[in-house]
Amino acid sequence: MKVFIAFLLLTVCPGLANAANVQQLIQLTDYVGVDYAVAVLDGEIINPGEYGEMQDFSSAIAAQVADLPASDASRQLLAQAAELVRLIENRAQPGEVKALAAAMRQAFISGFDVTVTPRRVPDLQAASALYSQQCVSCHGMNGQGDGPQAASMEPPPTDFTERERYQDRTVLGLYNTITQGLGGTAMQAYPGLDEAQRWSLAFYVGQLATTREEQAVGAAQFDQLAAEHPLTQLDYVATHTPAEVAAAHGEDGLAVMAYLRARPEMFFSTSSGTQLLEFSRIKLGESLAAYRAGDPDAAYELAVEAYLEGFELMEGNINAVDPDLRKEVEAAMTDYRNLLRKGAPVVTAEAGVQHIEGLLKIAVTRLDTTALSGKTAFVSALVILLREGLEALLVVAALAAFLIKTGRHDGLVYIYAGIAAAFVLGIATWVAANTFIDISGAQRELTEGFAALFAAVVLFSVGFWMHSKTSAVQWQAFIETSLQRHLGTGTLWGLAGLSFIAVYREMFEVVLFYQALWLQSSPEGQQMIFSGLLVAAGLLVVLGWLILRYSTRLPLRQFFAVSGIFMFVLAFIFTGKGIAALQEAGQIPLDPINIPSVELLGIYPNMQSTGVQLLLVVAAVVMLYISESGKRKRAG
Ligand code: HEC
Repeated sequence: MKVFIAFLLLTVCPGLANAANVQQLIQLTDYVGVDYAVAVLDGEIINPGEYGEMQDFSSAIAAQVADLPASDASRQLLAQAAELVRLIENRAQPGEVKALAAAMRQAFISGFDVTVTPRRVPDLQAASALYSQQCVSCHGMNGQGDGPQAASMEPPPTDFTERERYQDRTVLGLYNTITQGLGGTAMQAYPGLDEAQRWSLAFYVGQLATTREEQAVGAAQFDQLAAEHPLTQLDYVATHTPAEVAAAHGEDGLAVMAYLRARPEMFFSTSSGTQLLEFSRIKLGESLAAYRAGDPDAAYELAVEAYLEGFELMEGNINAVDPDLRKEVEAAMTDYRNLLRKGAPVVTAEAGVQHIEGLLKIAVTRLDTTALSGKTAFVSALVILLREGLEALLVVAALAAFLIKTGRHDGLVYIYAGIAAAFVLGIATWVAANTFIDISGAQRELTEGFAALFAAVVLFSVGFWMHSKTSAVQWQAFIETSLQRHLGTGTLWGLAGLSFIAVYREMFEVVLFYQALWLQSSPEGQQMIFSGLLVAAGLLVVLGWLILRYSTRLPLRQFFAVSGIFMFVLAFIFTGKGIAALQEAGQIPLDPINIPSVELLGIYPNMQSTGVQLLLVVAAVVMLYISESGKRKRAG
């Protein structure tokens, strides 16, 4: 079945086949570059078996390169592949073969859209745990290739601590091996591990041959590198071997490499924001390529990904520096998705992407000059929590006020339970998203969108129910009899559920935004994030207290009228945000209309979200009219 699916993918999506093939070509080329030294010495074949393999592989490379789509890069590679075959036939020096293989690796990487760097911070601790579960049986506890299963194996499992082997491996190469396995050996592919886990493992095994001392020397050297030094670039570090680095940057460079393999988070702590924007840019490029190739659906999905997995996570930071720029990028990305959906001509789509790229460039410079500043971190942390927390707070405070006002203090426990459950589950979701499951941006938005719409429906009916009581509560008796009865355990659980949904949907988002912010900040910036969080939490508590205090002072009748309206307004806001989230996830089309966007009220300038909101208003008016006339009839 798997093979069948792979076959389908390869035949149906030429773009995908291409990327996978190129990864495989890189792997093969790396293999030849390294193993040729075992086959030939001083023009003599010293290992006929290995030499035969080199001949096979080099002609396989030449054949596969010939199948790549025609471009300058593939023409250059075709010539290089032919040269590789010739060198091997002539039993050239291993150094020559290795140099050519390295040049080909760089040509593959620069000429084709292949993933050469991790998107998330590699987590070496998590990798170490994974390693002890899945890799020790062959590679051994300390990576020396001496696991319990190793004895019978031919070839034996790699000894990751062997320095000579280390010198000739790129992290990308290790990643490719973990992803695709090594045909003809016990090393299998690990499709069960996600991309982030495979990268983490690649960095983990890629630093086992280095020592703490070397890494410490590297750390000191790294701090002195100029910002544009190649060793400060993750893609350079991931695609070059330690030997190449040593040749280009000397012993110090080699030590920096050792340090960076052990501490890849260094790349992310200084520039993860820029990387997220870079990710958006890359995905937009892929989207455009898919569109050119006549696959608008794939192009659309990539455009959604470009926004949700990249730019959106930086929104808070950019907002803190330049709110107009944030809006402009968002609008431009929306426009681009619409272009794709409407089947606009390719040139129009190209112009759209160019426009976004220009804006992203500006965003990068804005972030570079202001990133890490304590003030930015503080403001971002504050705004994120206030923005996301406010809606949750309003819902929860309104529910609590309602219970207090009607003398049902016992019901407050249910609301607390809902909030606590949301906190626990929110954190658990985040941990899960970071460790075992890959929650995509689209899934995140879907959860948020559906939760918002669900909350809107509940709020709408609660609001309506409250309103319908405004005349009934004139009679004190109503509270004593009817309300007590009406608030059975079922309703209380309903309140718990509503506070859960309101808090959970914000929780998830807050944690994600904070994570992006955290990774991008220096240690003192991280302290400021913490302060921002505390201040925002304090403000929310004060606000909640004010709502409770003043709302519960209102006379009962007014209280019901006010909270009824309040619930309607919240339902209105949630509806707008819910639709917007589903649009971001690409599930609902988006037709722009010319009205201002008022995010606070969940009003977005498009037909779909305002349309549903209008329907909600009409429904409210009709229902009010019916209930009022019913009341009048009963009264008269
Ligand atoms: C069943 C045994 C087995 C298991 C389990 C195993 N490997 Fe391997 N692995 C091998 C063998 C054998 C080789 C060497 C192949 C060769 O020399 O051509 C290898 C090679 C590799 C290489 C290539 C090293 C290089 O320098 O080119 C990497 C990377 C690697 N393994 C990573 C892993 C990771 C990570 C895991 C756990 C997720 C793992 N392996 C689990 C047997 C295993």
